[in-house]
Amino acid sequence: DKGLKLYDPGYLNTAPVRSKISYIDGDEGILRYRGYPIEELAEKSTYMEVSYLIMYGNLPTKNQLADWEFALSQHSAVPQRILDIIQTMPNDAHPMGVLVNAISALSIFHPDANPAFQGLDVYKSKQVRDKQIARIIGKITTIAAATYLRLAGRPPVLPSKNLSYTENFLYMLDSMGNRSYKPNPRLARALDIIFILHAEHEMNCSTAATRHLSSSGVDVFTAIAGAVGALYGPLHGGANEAVLKMLSEIGTVENIPEFIEGVKARKRKLSGFGHRVYKNYDPRAKVLRKLADEVFSIVGRDPLIEIAVALEKVALSDEFFIKRKLYPNVDFYSGLIYRAMGFPPEFFTVLFAIPRMAGYLAHWRESLDDPDTKIMRPQQAYVGEWLRHYMPINERS
Ligand code: SDX
Repeated sequence: DKGLKLYDPGYLNTAPVRSKISYIDGDEGILRYRGYPIEELAEKSTYMEVSYLIMYGNLPTKNQLADWEFALSQHSAVPQRILDIIQTMPNDAHPMGVLVNAISALSIFHPDANPAFQGLDVYKSKQVRDKQIARIIGKITTIAAATYLRLAGRPPVLPSKNLSYTENFLYMLDSMGNRSYKPNPRLARALDIIFILHAEHEMNCSTAATRHLSSSGVDVFTAIAGAVGALYGPLHGGANEAVLKMLSEIGTVENIPEFIEGVKARKRKLSGFGHRVYKNYDPRAKVLRKLADEVFSIVGRDPLIEIAVALEKVALSDEFFIKRKLYPNVDFYSGLIYRAMGFPPEFFTVLFAIPRMAGYLAHWRESLDDPDTKIMRPQQAYVGEWLRHYMPINERS
């Protein structure tokens, strides 16, 4: 077929992206950040340590961690006019749509490191890159909190200088401006573990979008806004919200067999199941399953967990799912935890986006240093009409 004329593979990015950031073995259900198993990091580390590890390649020393947390804290304030943009959005605007706009607006309010103004060499400077990284990870929690408060018709709360990153996020959500408010430390730790689990995941759809957009030389804020747009999709980050809708729709354990028959008849997907890479249990889902019991012991048990556990049991013993190697993924239990913590379903994917900034930015940084990075142009095989000539309209049928 003439349409399959092959070009030089190097030109069309057909070689896989080479990365040192995370490793997934889908058949074995393995996930490692810079060589560290996700289970160990979830149990022993913090999101502040892990975001540094993902970004710079090693677990931080005490001084490096202190400098990292200080830099993020210094950049946690958001331009008032971006907070105003968030407040002017329609009340029924989806928080992920608001987040895409707010991050894109950061580009407009930070022209100092924009290649469109400063030229492509601006990102050759380690100091400039590190500043954009700190700006985005520092501001994302303040912006996310403002999108949450907007849902309740409440004004944004500015970050405190005396709390850890994840505690500060909960403070902005729940303090109602009461400066002496302290979040529940066990809930803060649970959310910190969730942030660790969601921080990075190799070449997933939205991380690939980050690399794709930044390969054009566009500024990093605009590239990240595009990534958040990809994460917004119900097949990707939006699956945790879809899982809650699915469990609520099933309603009782007795309705599971009929629901499963609908999935097998391809009337709908089993949200929170299946994965592009994992053909085994997603290791993050295993940690989240245990974390759900910890959160429920603090805030009370969500009755939908019984449906989720029963649904998982039925699916894992059914030939349809076994043959297709469909297992629970990271989204299957996260939505139940978020709901138990009091978050509305439309905010669940924002909770995914916050920690994934570390992965997006680590891949952005790595692509800048990769001499093989060219403007992304995936290969196409042309299979259309080969050659035709113009025909006057009165001769067309
Ligand atoms: C995330 O890539 C990442 O890393 C993403 C992520 C991250 O950290 O960034 O892990 C986060 O996005 C997790 C996935 C969240 N999405 C969902 O839970 C939505 C439901 N899952 C699916 O729609 C689906 O499993 C995908 C989109 C995740 C994967 O789609 P694929 O690659 O097309 O699945 P596949 O090729 O393995 O499918 C094989 C078969 C197909 O059936 P047949 O046509 O061969 O008969 O399994 C079927 C699929 O239709 N199938 C499902 C199913 N997932 C796949 N059938 C029912 N329910 C499902 N969930």
